[in-house]
Amino acid sequence: MKALTWQGKRKIEYADVPDPKIQEPTDAVIRVTSTGICGSDLHLYEVMSPFLDAGDVLGHEAMGIVEEVGSGVTNLKPGDRVVVPFQIACGTCFMCGQGLQTQCETTQVREQGMGAALFGYTKLYGQVPGGQAEYVRVPQAQYGPIVVPEGPPDDRFLYLSDVLPTAWQAVEYAGIPDGGTVAVLGLGPIGDMACRIALHRGHRVIGVDLVAERLERARNNGVETLEYGNDVADAIRELTDGRGPDAVIDAVGMEAHGSPTAKFAQQLAGLLPDAIQGAFMQKAGVDRLAALLLAIDAVRRGGTISLVGVYGGAADPLPMLTIFDKQIQLRMGQANVRRWSDQILPLLTDEDPLKVDSFATHHLPLEQGPDAYAMFQQKRDGAVKVLLTP
Ligand SMILES: NC(=O)c1ccc[n+]([C@@H]2O[C@H](COP(=O)([O-])OP(=O)(O)OC[C@H]3O[C@@H](n4cnc5c(N)ncnc54)[C@H](O)[C@@H]3O)[C@@H](O)[C@H]2O)c1
Ligand SMILES: [Zn+2]
Ligand SMILES: [Zn+2]
Repeated sequence: MKALTWQGKRKIEYADVPDPKIQEPTDAVIRVTSTGICGSDLHLYEVMSPFLDAGDVLGHEAMGIVEEVGSGVTNLKPGDRVVVPFQIACGTCFMCGQGLQTQCETTQVREQGMGAALFGYTKLYGQVPGGQAEYVRVPQAQYGPIVVPEGPPDDRFLYLSDVLPTAWQAVEYAGIPDGGTVAVLGLGPIGDMACRIALHRGHRVIGVDLVAERLERARNNGVETLEYGNDVADAIRELTDGRGPDAVIDAVGMEAHGSPTAKFAQQLAGLLPDAIQGAFMQKAGVDRLAALLLAIDAVRRGGTISLVGVYGGAADPLPMLTIFDKQIQLRMGQANVRRWSDQILPLLTDEDPLKVDSFATHHLPLEQGPDAYAMFQQKRDGAVKVLLTP
């Protein structure tokens, strides 16, 4: 089959790879009909290189039609239309029982000291072939895939794989009080969707980014927008009685603009040979912290920071004095997809309150994936969300 494969830093190839097969009784094979490119994929494109091998199949946002199931999968049958959550979880262990599917004890990547395996997301997360492909093997299919109705277009449901539960968890973890205000840093797909969900719940939303089209898109949905810059924390305070918002969602993560020293450190690490680079990043790696530092600065005293942007540093210098003194609450992590999916499904109707049907800015054939990655990374042509069709 054909798939998008990682071949090196900023090098994606549309290539032939082996067809996936049922390997365990709990596997399913899905024929992919739509698959997204995520901001998380951009970390692989650039800074996470030491944790990938040339040829790894990318992608963790996929939906499609069940092709085949193992003997242990009784909840699905060939022909079912399903969305595949980006993490692989068993549904029955202690962690899954708590709604912490990202910490699933059955699929935890223990040799790396990491949580649940993810599709298409490096050796740290199990090196599982991903969903930017014609077919994908889905482990733990007795639990993971979400069956969705026939009829509406793929765009209606695809975001259940990642964007919707991720943005939903970001808002839940932000703990915004009734009538409260949240600032959302980063208006890529995740930040944009978090804004929509917070607005839908009746909160006041301030959005920050540097990309004009992304600011405009958020503004059109009722977000008060600010352009990222040196004085943006003051501007946020000015909008919130000088106090700061009740919560800040950081939907930027480790590659934020405005962190020149850490950017240099990331680039230096990138020059080391792969084996050393991986070890170095796991001990001494640093993130570009501009967004997190802004969140710490801007959130009101006693407020909550919800980190949904991915961080991966092991030696990040943090202003603990301020975090402690301001009594900031911090919540973070990969989204637990199945914890939230049943609450989100009722919003995916023809009324389309979150406007998912028009959320994607680009639909392209899978074979144009390599160009699509470059366009999304460079934020060219108004690209916010790119969906690929095998
Ligand atoms: N926790 C999860 O489960 C999960 C799931 C999906 C994505 N993510 C992460 O969420 C983050 C956002 O993903 P996305 O798909 O929206 O990606 P994206 O890269 O399109 O969005 C990031 C946005 O942040 C903006 N930005 C950069 N620096 C900024 C700064 N200093 N202040 C304000 N804005 C800034 C960029 O212009 C961009 O619009 C990524 O880190 C991604 O890895 C996490
Ligand atoms: Zn993602
Ligand atoms: Zn589990």
